[in-house]
Amino acid sequence: MESEITGHETILILDFGSQYTQLIARRVREQNVFSEIIPYNSNPRKYKNRNIKGIILSGGPASVYEKDAPHIGREWLDFNVPVLGICYGLQLISYLFKGKVVQAEHKEYGLAELEITTDSDLFKNVPVKSAVWMSHGDKLLSLPQSFRVIARTANSPYAAIENREKRIYGLQFHPEVAHSVYGTQILRNFLFEICHCAADWSPASFITESVAAIRQKVGDRQVLCALSGGVDSSVVAVLLQKAIGKQLHCVFVDTGLLRYKEAEEVENIFTRTFDMDLTCVKRGPEFYAKLRGVTDPEEKRKIIGSEFIRIFEEEAEKLGQFDFLAQGTLYPDVIESVSFKGPSVTIKSHHNVGGLPEKFDFELIEPLRELFKDEVRQVGRELGIPETIIGRHPFPGPGLAVRILGDITPERVHLLQKADAIYIEELHKNDLYNKIWQAFAVLLPVQTVGVMGDQRTYEHVIALRAVTSTDGMTADWFNMPYDVLAKISNRIINEIRGINRVVYDISSKPPATIEWE
Ligand code: XMP
Repeated sequence: MESEITGHETILILDFGSQYTQLIARRVREQNVFSEIIPYNSNPRKYKNRNIKGIILSGGPASVYEKDAPHIGREWLDFNVPVLGICYGLQLISYLFKGKVVQAEHKEYGLAELEITTDSDLFKNVPVKSAVWMSHGDKLLSLPQSFRVIARTANSPYAAIENREKRIYGLQFHPEVAHSVYGTQILRNFLFEICHCAADWSPASFITESVAAIRQKVGDRQVLCALSGGVDSSVVAVLLQKAIGKQLHCVFVDTGLLRYKEAEEVENIFTRTFDMDLTCVKRGPEFYAKLRGVTDPEEKRKIIGSEFIRIFEEEAEKLGQFDFLAQGTLYPDVIESVSFKGPSVTIKSHHNVGGLPEKFDFELIEPLRELFKDEVRQVGRELGIPETIIGRHPFPGPGLAVRILGDITPERVHLLQKADAIYIEELHKNDLYNKIWQAFAVLLPVQTVGVMGDQRTYEHVIALRAVTSTDGMTADWFNMPYDVLAKISNRIINEIRGINRVVYDISSKPPATIEWE
């Protein structure tokens, strides 16, 4: 997939399948330099007219000497821009320049001490000794032609190499990983000392360019946008609003399965602060009716998904004719679908409920398809979207339906909303909310015995979940201070009639998932 942002200075990252490839791209962008990940076997000719300032070869699981190992042609070297090979990238450079790569006696994984042995532009402002992160099974046995060693570790005599004249560099370790203490400095040196990048990429420049591109693409036509109140759709909507004003029409479906007072809040912000043409449809009762008696999680998801699309289509038809449908597709989705690994390795198993209605003949408009999630947040802040939306934890499309185990009724939704609101309020009060990737309450399908005053009670149980994560693919349960847990539990049991027990979920993903259903 070729980038639509072609004017910026760009670092191309050839992907050989490393788990860290996206991290490299983010680290480069954090330095205000636009980076783009492309499969290692892309055609170099496609990039000839782009403003390419440097090329990074990512790590990857293969071994260069294996049959079918991913290789690149020398055409990439004809760009005459600096090249940095990381891990597998280093081994590939060695292979191309006739060095010798062999299987190491021991796989090297974890921290190592890097010792710089020769001055290099790559190591400007990096101390002679520093910690780096290693993760490799192969190593260099001899130097490629015309290269010299610039750093070593105890197990890797060729931990960093360079060919200064050709401006080709190789690192056995991973500068993009936070454990490599001077990794960012090394990447900065590559970008600014070696590639001489100008740092012309920022959320503000993205907004200006994106607004111009949207205006040009849309002309005087009409755009429809499904607003969920989540970060991505909110940023899409505000960006489009900035570009085309009243040619944008948003539809917000209140499924009755949102967080406490969330629907009112979204409606308020987008109509009052942003003066959007927003249609809010309250369809809770319809969703409850369809979900009555349904306890199977997949069944719940399917019902909500199809009901959502039906309602969205119905509302869109009422609003008239549209030429475009706006979507909050992000860069990781784009990369997943073009990566040489194929989508099977990383794709999520669930569809977003706000999925594309198939029967419409819309052209798609996806203004965020170049951005990582943290960049979307920065753009959102720059656009003036309040922190309550930008900093909010992720929320699943099917909403509270997958957090109410068993049967869904308006009363149970109400119980859960109240418990969840108390929980989240306490996390904010105790300065914990932003330390947690996602926190929420779950209503369990059991009742337990309790005692209140002299009365025996037989009421519901609430489970609290809080996890840390970077992308939701893996997660650890959050080490919540006991006093905060005590406060939350007390408040939930005392303030909500119908709940007499609170438990804390201490399972990580895998093997558990973040949501309970
Ligand atoms: P799991 O439960 O699979 O969740 O560990 C991983 C992340 O995805 C969110 N999630 C969803 N997001 N539609 C979404 O947009 C969905 O159907 C859905 N199901 C789970 C979940 O909240 C967590 O952040």
